Amino acid sequence: FIVFEGIDGSGKSTQVRLLGEWLSQQGHAVHSTLEPTNYRIGSMLRRILTGKEQADEYTIAALFVADRLDHIHNPEYGMLAHLSSGEIVITDRYYYSSYAYHSQFMPMDWVIQANSLAAEALRPDIVIFLDLTAEQSMARIKANRAEIEHYEKLENLLLVRKNYMEAIEKEGQKDKVIIID
Ligand code: TYD
Repeated sequence: FIVFEGIDGSGKSTQVRLLGEWLSQQGHAVHSTLEPTNYRIGSMLRRILTGKEQADEYTIAALFVADRLDHIHNPEYGMLAHLSSGEIVITDRYYYSSYAYHSQFMPMDWVIQANSLAAEALRPDIVIFLDLTAEQSMARIKANRAEIEHYEKLENLLLVRKNYMEAIEKEGQKDKVIIID
């Protein structure tokens, strides 16, 4: 179970695709996925993140927990089901995203506690954190996107990167986290 993490514009989705292709070529069965998911709770989150619906930050953080638990346990599309059928699962974002993004608005320990059911149910074999500066991220987002989301502002990205580092320091010894420039 391989997790990619990083601030917006760090290239996670590209690397998930490239690693998935490479592993498939090596003969492995691969399932690539992402959070927020494209299922029901994830779709609700995307509407909130693009400003089409309103919610307070605790509600958003709690919805990410719900989306994650469904992403783990759903009998049809859940990651545990894919892993137990022998596939390598690669996900674009997991609980470190919650630690980094929501602790702008609430104590990180609350977020870690709120995600503890997910962490107990499924820990990554490896977490790959793709690192770049907030300025590089902002430049890429502006060049590539029509729609700027909720968290995609320079001040937020600076804070989120700092929070990622803090989260890795705090929780990283429980998972195998590697930081790639
Ligand atoms: P992102 O991967 O950037 O999707 P897209 O490329 O479609 O914009 O994820 C959307 C946003 O969700 C991103 O700004 C980070 C945020 N997020 C959280 O705030 N908490 C979480 O737990 C997760 C998984 C993502």
